Amino acid sequence: MKWENRGIKPPNIAIVAEQIEEVQEAGWTHAQVLLGLEGPGAVAWIAEERGGHSGKRSRSGVGVVQGFVVARRIVDVLEIDLVAVRPSVRRRGIARALINDLLDHEIVSGLAEARLELASGNHEARLLYLGLRFVVVGRRTRYYPDGEDALLLSRLDFSS
Ligand SMILES: CC(C)(COP(=O)(O)OP(=O)(O)OC[C@H]1O[C@@H](n2cnc3c(N)ncnc32)[C@H](O)[C@@H]1OP(=O)(O)O)[C@@H](O)C(=O)NCCC(=O)NCCS
Repeated sequence: MKWENRGIKPPNIAIVAEQIEEVQEAGWTHAQVLLGLEGPGAVAWIAEERGGHSGKRSRSGVGVVQGFVVARRIVDVLEIDLVAVRPSVRRRGIARALINDLLDHEIVSGLAEARLELASGNHEARLLYLGLRFVVVGRRTRYYPDGEDALLLSRLDFSS
């Protein structure tokens, strides 16, 4: 499967939101997905399938979304809210490439920190972010409704 990453612009938001609702596993509601895409400081990137029958873009101009990252930029801090990749295409580097592209794009306008919260038991995502030079800087005990702790991860160094 070939894919291409791109940032999302307002005309495509509705159709992308629909696909993001399919891909995500976090149980975000439609309103939360839309807020993630359109709210203040919203930044979203998608990995869009290219080539083959399923790779064709629909009339809306959006292809099959295989993965996405939704973040918020607040002055010089980027909060990464949600990252997900379709289960059938995981472990091919899609999430890593999406986050790298997002960070490369945000660095241009001066980025001091990228940060996020993660369920302490989400080992796949933890390894993903540690590989992207994030470090664990804190823990919120019993942060999630099911009693799981949240880990706070941060990256401050964007030198290449
Ligand atoms: C976490 C998630 C986004 C990773 O997406 P992905 O495209 O499969 O990840 P990548 O292929 O880019 O993997 C990059 C690195 O992450 C780590 N990683 C990813 N999946 C892993 C797994 N199942 N087991 C161990 N390490 C894993 C590895 O270090 C991997 O590097 P490597 O393949 O060179 O060893 C995906 O598993 C997912 O959508 N999970 C459900 C949603 C979620 O938990 N999101 C994160 C919290 S918001």
